[in-house]
Amino acid sequence: MKDSKIPELLEQGNPAEDPKKFRRTLGQFATGVTAITTATPEGPVGVTANSFSSLSLDPPLVLWSIARTSRSFEAFRNSSHFAVSILAENQIDVSQKLSSSSEDKFSDLEWNAGIGGSPIIAGALATIECVTETIHDGGDHIILVGRVLHHRRFAGKPLLYAQGQYGVVDEHPAFRAADSIVTPTEHGQSLEEQPLTTLLYLAHHYSSAAFDRHRREENISLAQSRILSELKRHPRLSKQALTDRVYLTEEKVADALAQLSERSHVETDSAGLLSLTESGHALARSIRRRVAAYEAEQFAGIPVERLAITRDVLIRFIDGLANPNETDHAA
Ligand SMILES: Cc1cc2nc3c(=O)[nH]c(=O)nc-3n(C[C@H](O)[C@H](O)[C@H](O)COP(=O)(O)O)c2cc1C
Repeated sequence: MKDSKIPELLEQGNPAEDPKKFRRTLGQFATGVTAITTATPEGPVGVTANSFSSLSLDPPLVLWSIARTSRSFEAFRNSSHFAVSILAENQIDVSQKLSSSSEDKFSDLEWNAGIGGSPIIAGALATIECVTETIHDGGDHIILVGRVLHHRRFAGKPLLYAQGQYGVVDEHPAFRAADSIVTPTEHGQSLEEQPLTTLLYLAHHYSSAAFDRHRREENISLAQSRILSELKRHPRLSKQALTDRVYLTEEKVADALAQLSERSHVETDSAGLLSLTESGHALARSIRRRVAAYEAEQFAGIPVERLAITRDVLIRFIDGLANPNETDHAA
């Protein structure tokens, strides 16, 4: 039998007998949090909803459900449009306002009118503007299907909701580079016994994982950080040339470039070549300073001449691999 740990059973039953229990079981499904809004002649209307879901790419459809008991029910049922604002991790206050029983939910919310007048919440992680396509019966809720007319995506992290509580996204520990490596020492072998190639591999993984904290503080991913440093060294690169240099898939590069452009760190000239903007250079400098401080900390206590030899060996090794036919590096 597979050696998997079966979790403790907390509760079970027929939902008709104990709806609260049923809600808690449904709460095991983690979701994001959205603000869904529409315009009425009496003013803006909105609710907090985690029933939002993507439905179809072609045609572009999304869905969500609203309780028949909600005061906003008629407004949404009769409206031709609605807007979905996917809330960012710092927007618990928006979630609380729109799920409250307040008479004026929008008075101290920052928003602007989108398509059909539906309010778009400022600071959201993404916005999806829809025309109401169909409405379906869903028990004590109705299901609204929207055809997406316009969408926007911003940099940042989503607010989550699971087990009745708000949460934030964190990388799964099993995927943290340092934790996922089984070191040779765990198999009873010392590092001294390892081939140099294994040591290089381990050094890369551990140092990248340790430096991750600095990337997070700058709010950039590994892909974005590689792009920044490459464009700092080589301005006016084509997208293809950049992709070849950063050792990442085209999709990852496109994604990271879109985020850097949205934050105005990267610009494209009329020939389609990519360069850093002023703020991109400032960010690249800030990361370089972090690298210098990080190295000073990591290599403290190692004599400079030994570090110089290590650098020399690594440079020859990399150069030999990158340019195998140019010179004889064996000497
Ligand atoms: C995280 C969260 C998710 C919610 N999701 C939904 C939902 O998907 N559908 C719904 O009808 N109500 C949902 N609610 C409750 C509504 O936000 C709340 O009942 C409604 O806004 C009450 O306002 P109203 O009566 O003015 O419409 C949710 C509340 C919270 C806090």
